[in-house]
Amino acid sequence: MSSETITIFDTTLRDGEQSPGCSMTTEEKLEVAKALVELGVDVIEAGFPIASPGDFEAVRKIAERFGDQTVICGLARCREEDITRAGEALKGAANRRIHVFLATSAIHREHKLKMTKDEIIARAVQGVEQAKDYTDNIEFSPEDAARTELDFLCEVTEKAIAAGATTVNIPDTVGYSTPTHFYNVIRHLKENVPNIDQAVISTHCHNDLGLAVANSLAAVEAGARQIECTINGLGERAGNASLEEVVMALRTRKDHYGIDTKINTQKLFPTSRLVSRITGMTVQRNKAIVGQNAFAHEAGIHQHGMLQNRSTYEIMRPEDVGYVGQNLVLGKHSGRHAFRDRVQHLGFQLDEDMIQRVFEEFIALADKKKDVYDSDIVALIESHIGESKEQWSLERFHTLAGTDVLPTATVEMRREGSDEVIRDAATGDGPIDAVFKALERVIGLEAKLTDYQVRSVSSGKDALGEVNVQIEVDGEKYHGKGVNTDIVAASAAAYLKALNRAAANSESENG
Ligand code: KIV
Ligand code: ZN
Repeated sequence: MSSETITIFDTTLRDGEQSPGCSMTTEEKLEVAKALVELGVDVIEAGFPIASPGDFEAVRKIAERFGDQTVICGLARCREEDITRAGEALKGAANRRIHVFLATSAIHREHKLKMTKDEIIARAVQGVEQAKDYTDNIEFSPEDAARTELDFLCEVTEKAIAAGATTVNIPDTVGYSTPTHFYNVIRHLKENVPNIDQAVISTHCHNDLGLAVANSLAAVEAGARQIECTINGLGERAGNASLEEVVMALRTRKDHYGIDTKINTQKLFPTSRLVSRITGMTVQRNKAIVGQNAFAHEAGIHQHGMLQNRSTYEIMRPEDVGYVGQNLVLGKHSGRHAFRDRVQHLGFQLDEDMIQRVFEEFIALADKKKDVYDSDIVALIESHIGESKEQWSLERFHTLAGTDVLPTATVEMRREGSDEVIRDAATGDGPIDAVFKALERVIGLEAKLTDYQVRSVSSGKDALGEVNVQIEVDGEKYHGKGVNTDIVAASAAAYLKALNRAAANSESENG
């Protein structure tokens, strides 16, 4: 069957970063951008340059570093200063796009913008024309398009294309649409906008009703040829359409859609892990494509079928998405070479020092735990990534807990560059709370715990526990992750990571 290729526009670094608690540093954004380039996305929306100097800097650096490998896009309202800022930030990219947006629905016109339809059209045209000073690759979004009167939507779209927009993106900003409604909106535009063939129609669906992927795919059936999406479905409120889901739906049901993407699907799982580690947003266990259970077959009848023929219960092969599962990998007698090979096979490039550290932890783990799985190794490696910047390390801790005792923790810590061991103790509601308080006392920060999650990395009573925490210090959110077979130790490591991030931030703010 003949097929067309669709544009995958990733907005993890812009809309995804707008998820509460998901903000990333510039270094982290660069790491995600590199992964997105390797994943093969066609466009990276790197940020909203006018939003803050940090956003501007991140877009500028991503444009410089990756703008010769893929299209780098910056968001701007239809305002002169926004567009100038986006144009400046994108200068270093050989391939760049400016994405201008302006709300068009009656609700937004009346209550937010207080503008008439004519004023909206004039402002949209002006925005697109100004963006032409910086690039010919211009995207225009009528924000809240899914709730905009169809006639007016056609009019704005036509004028934006006539002014120079090469992509018209139709956002379901509040996740209100249904697949049939969204199909009809795209179809209507295709049939009623006279110059529609001069632009690519794009979708940008939010997931408030859990329909973002379904709506995006309905739009593709109606003729959209760009999908805006994010890794792990991150984004404002309930998020955006998940990149891994739309890509695998198009690939698995190519018989139905007849559409290809340029995505290297084997990178989907590692990219999802990376974004989850950096943002601290854990991926729900049963999430399609990249959840821990996405390829786990529990029921006996399913396992029996799988043994006869995988296609009985498997529509995608785990290896096609780079899934790291419960493969039994190595034992404590495995040597360093076998370990290094496995690490490389899992997609990590670690220096010798790091290999040695993780190998030692692996041997210690193999001593405690009967079976060590790929997922254990990934968890051990991920717990080390980015830690070189940490100011405080935990030498040891001790807790006292149980019925009829006051939960108490003692910690011994060291500050980077100093040999002095600082000791302190605290009491709490339980041993974990006591450790958190003792860590705060030594570092001298008071934090509010806003999220705490624990999960087992593999199965069995001896499984590694992974703890994710999110804290708030002076109104800013920080996250941290720790793994250990002992969940108090995993919690301490996670909390310390988050406190270290907060300490580094307050130090850089104070010069
Ligand atoms: O959801 C939305 O409407 C947006 C626009 C900026 C495209 O994110
Ligand atoms: Zn959005």
